Amino acid sequence: MTMKLALIGCGTVGSEVVRLLHRQETDLTSRIGEPIEIAGIAVRRGGRDRGDLPVDPSLFTTDALGLVNRDDVDIVVEVVGGIEPAREWITTALRAGKAVITANKALLAEDGSALAQAAVDGGADLYYEAAVAGAIPLLRPLRESLHGDTIHRVISIVNGTTNYILSRMTETGAGFAEALEEASALGYAEADPTADVEGFDAAAKAAILASLAFHTRVTVTDVYREGITEVSAADIASAAEMGCVVKPLCIASRDGDVVSARVHPAMIPREHPLASVNGAYNAVFVEAEAAGRLMFYGAGAGGAPTASAVLGDLVAVARNRRAGATPMPPTVYADLAIRPMGDV
Ligand code: HSE
Repeated sequence: MTMKLALIGCGTVGSEVVRLLHRQETDLTSRIGEPIEIAGIAVRRGGRDRGDLPVDPSLFTTDALGLVNRDDVDIVVEVVGGIEPAREWITTALRAGKAVITANKALLAEDGSALAQAAVDGGADLYYEAAVAGAIPLLRPLRESLHGDTIHRVISIVNGTTNYILSRMTETGAGFAEALEEASALGYAEADPTADVEGFDAAAKAAILASLAFHTRVTVTDVYREGITEVSAADIASAAEMGCVVKPLCIASRDGDVVSARVHPAMIPREHPLASVNGAYNAVFVEAEAAGRLMFYGAGAGGAPTASAVLGDLVAVARNRRAGATPMPPTVYADLAIRPMGDV
């Protein structure tokens, strides 16, 4: 038997998924118990020379929905992003009982509970480790390993671009504009850096983290958001005088029946573990009742790290499928009040 995979999207992450699947073929087959075969790769525009990838060129198609609907497809990997048409591809696949792996933070943050419901309706797995903090194993630990505990707070740096900018401002005394220019030159910041520097990217991630940590529904509109564009060299210098550093924080906390989720630059004491997370790295600090304080650290973006998270999910869903395991239900148990800034 062979498990058939539809890959939707072949940009930076999708190409790395293809390369990693090829490079790891033997190991993946033994870890899963049967080979994974790419049934097709959906791309926005056909005709591009993809001779750099170790796949048969006839696998490329521009008909993503047609690929999802093919009878022989068992698993769909979506790495395109955005709300539509990704929502249609994902819900169609899940309702048809096909497992889905996605890195689509915008869609999960807008409508994660509808996707989870489609997974329940279709009896299919929905995994999305790559949606937050790239390679860092984080969402499955929140969703599985810490499931027997009570999480009080998740404080994180989940946007590498803004962490790079604030780190450089701290290290060199540069202003925001100069540090942003440097981040763009190094390829961290996008041509349009708005999603990063205004906190939209981190707010989507905050909604996903808060939903998983507190087993409730938090959407991106529930998240208080403030960017880093107003942080000045003088702010960084005054923070330093107080023994602090300024970091682009994403804070999700629960106080009784109230959940709050917010994204903003904040001063933290130099001794805090997150204070030494510099450059484009991400880190997530979890405070739980029984486990205490945990920190997850690593590369939060980039083709290969994100593809690593996708392949980890792929092994998990393929094994589940092979074992005929019942898909994990969505983790929404609590109907908690959401106040973006909590009671402060
Ligand atoms: N622009 C994001 C970052 C990429 O800088 O972290 C990963 O979502």
